[in-house]
Amino acid sequence: MMILKKTSDLSAYIDNQREKGRKIGFVPTMGALHQGHISLINLSKNENDDTICSIFVNPTQFNNPEDFEKYPITIDHDIELLEAAGCDVLFLPSLEEIYPANFNNKRYELGKLDTILEGKHRPGHFQGVCMVVDRLLAIVSCDILYLGQKDYQQCLVLKKMIELEKLGVTITIAATVREKNGLAMSSRNSRLSDQEKKQALCIYQSLESLKKNIQPGDLTELKEKAINIISDAGFVIDYLDITDINLNPIHNWDGQINLIGLVAASTNQVRLIDNMMITS
Ligand code: PAF
Repeated sequence: MMILKKTSDLSAYIDNQREKGRKIGFVPTMGALHQGHISLINLSKNENDDTICSIFVNPTQFNNPEDFEKYPITIDHDIELLEAAGCDVLFLPSLEEIYPANFNNKRYELGKLDTILEGKHRPGHFQGVCMVVDRLLAIVSCDILYLGQKDYQQCLVLKKMIELEKLGVTITIAATVREKNGLAMSSRNSRLSDQEKKQALCIYQSLESLKKNIQPGDLTELKEKAINIISDAGFVIDYLDITDINLNPIHNWDGQINLIGLVAASTNQVRLIDNMMITS
């Protein structure tokens, strides 16, 4: 695997591959890689000639400075995992490569996606995500961008950003990869003690309870039961919502449309999110 740190080197490599007509898949990450990320690399390898992964812990998307400072960094292990998965190029830029002094900061008109759920609880987060992915896509001109369903709202946000900026990139969303017991894989899981990891299962269990017990009609009681599963385990809930696939809240189900359950909850300063299709 080639490891490139300079934007100019990566652009030269990509121009060369493009001239040869090669199809390029791109997996942007913030490192601390796990099997969820590797599933994206595998998908990209199946569908493209070249797979590029980036690792950049983007400061502009952290609304909480402590979360940024404590974000796990495991670069040697990341490189091993990427090598083993057969990734072709790792882009490992410095802060200056991504945000040079002349960087032009813009605002993305994301509409309600910016103010609901994650947008509401992490003000500015999605503007930062758009900023970095827009910049990365300017450097890594790719055919397909690979994202994980665990960050469902992020997938919708980036789809919108790509439309707004007319970037002409296709997004492939890969299913959430879970531990055997159901806990969604996340870089932040490494900040949990063994005991907290067990408690964190409540998030998966709450989503499973939505899926198991969903019935047409009023959803208030179903939601309350799911919320209790989380608070009984000692996690503090930011939100537990049931929405349609465009993230419009649904309080009364007609038994027809597809629904998704979404949760954000934290323990001891570690904030986890998860979601699940609960009707199909
Ligand atoms: O999902 C992530 O890891 C990040 O938000 C992303 C897409 C790599 C942008 O920094």
